Amino acid sequence: MDLYIKYAQAGAPTLYRSAGLEFNAKDTTRLAEQGVKFLYIAASQHALYRKLLADKLDRAFSNPEIAREQRARIVRDACSKMIEDVMLFPGDSEPIEAVADISRNFASWSNKDPEAFSYLLDMSKHDFYTATHMINVGVGCGLLGREIFPGDENMFSLLVQGGLLHDLGKRGVPEAILNKEGKLEPEEWKVIQSHPRLGYEELKANRAVSQTVLEMIRDHHERIDGNGYPFAISGDQISVAARICAIVDVFDAITAARSYRGPTPPDKTLVIMSEGLGTQFDAALFGTWKNLVQKLVHKDPARAAVTDTAKPSIASLSDVTPRSPLIPATSVSGINTSAIWQDDRRQFKRFECELPIKATFLRQLKKCPVGPGVAFVVRLLDVSRGGAQIQTAWPITLNDLLILEIPMKLGGNLTRHGRVVRVRQQADTWRAGILFVDDTKD
Ligand SMILES: [Fe+2]
Ligand SMILES: [Fe+2]
Repeated sequence: MDLYIKYAQAGAPTLYRSAGLEFNAKDTTRLAEQGVKFLYIAASQHALYRKLLADKLDRAFSNPEIAREQRARIVRDACSKMIEDVMLFPGDSEPIEAVADISRNFASWSNKDPEAFSYLLDMSKHDFYTATHMINVGVGCGLLGREIFPGDENMFSLLVQGGLLHDLGKRGVPEAILNKEGKLEPEEWKVIQSHPRLGYEELKANRAVSQTVLEMIRDHHERIDGNGYPFAISGDQISVAARICAIVDVFDAITAARSYRGPTPPDKTLVIMSEGLGTQFDAALFGTWKNLVQKLVHKDPARAAVTDTAKPSIASLSDVTPRSPLIPATSVSGINTSAIWQDDRRQFKRFECELPIKATFLRQLKKCPVGPGVAFVVRLLDVSRGGAQIQTAWPITLNDLLILEIPMKLGGNLTRHGRVVRVRQQADTWRAGILFVDDTKD
């Protein structure tokens, strides 16, 4: 397909290489040296591109010359990119369809080579990062689903898809809360508890997403005893798919390393989880999951090896799923985000300022008098390596994408791409928290 590049972010794309001409690793290096970060293709060729990507992944996964671990890495990297795209553009159908494609790929791989497929589940070496977690839950739901619905390839791919998307709603939860060490304040806990509902709301109108997948997104924190959230439903009211997701979700959350503790070995994780048998989890499904994990570990004990001894493992079930007083579903929408704003613990040093700077919308979720691609002036209130706060007279919406041009002391502009992660409207002005989404090395 024709490849385009853009020299100015807001400018028109220029044809870089026509369809049929070779494009290889050397070209990528050269482009990177010139500071080009993105290649563009025509929107009309998107479906073709997706197919190409799926074929390439299929070939990589089925290539016996590539080591099994490396194959798993290639697939997980591609998957992680897709999930990041869904998190950034949940309203677009393209990324969602890409996730559906990869789920179907997973189904056929697990038929062709179940053992190689099982290696996509990372049990000991990963950190708890949203995309990695969602891949693991997707793979795990597929593995458990295959035991529960043998031969049902369609169900298999739906379970994978639901697992890959289950925490989509976390995009609406500030990072500082997601990664907070120690106890959450009641307000913060409320925000966390809103994520299943946010994810469900975001996708329920999307025709590419089936009911099974939606139930996994909405109900994966419900408990068999009715003490879960967001709706505190119990027993059979929770679909089998959501119950499967609940088990794999907690399993991955405990095995993964956190900033405040190391990873937990799979066998220990299963012991911790058995505390929740019949109350938090479906006992029969948990039994099947336990057998499955034990079989995988027995076949290849290296998969369970937890090497990180510097950080002792101190996981517990309550650490992952804090018991809290039930919050009626109706109170979830009344979250006071301004309180969280104040307490937000920031990762980077913040510089306060009062500076008019140039901004350009890359994407607008709601119509605004200033269209995408048109530069306008905003007031920069503070800036750090990770993000900024701006104030503007134009309506700004959560998850809008913007380019900010920040003048540097020594001259020149620093250009940053950012996503709107918080918004507060005061009369005719909007105050927005921007999370930089491009690299922040410099
Ligand atoms: Fe979740
Ligand atoms: Fe999760």
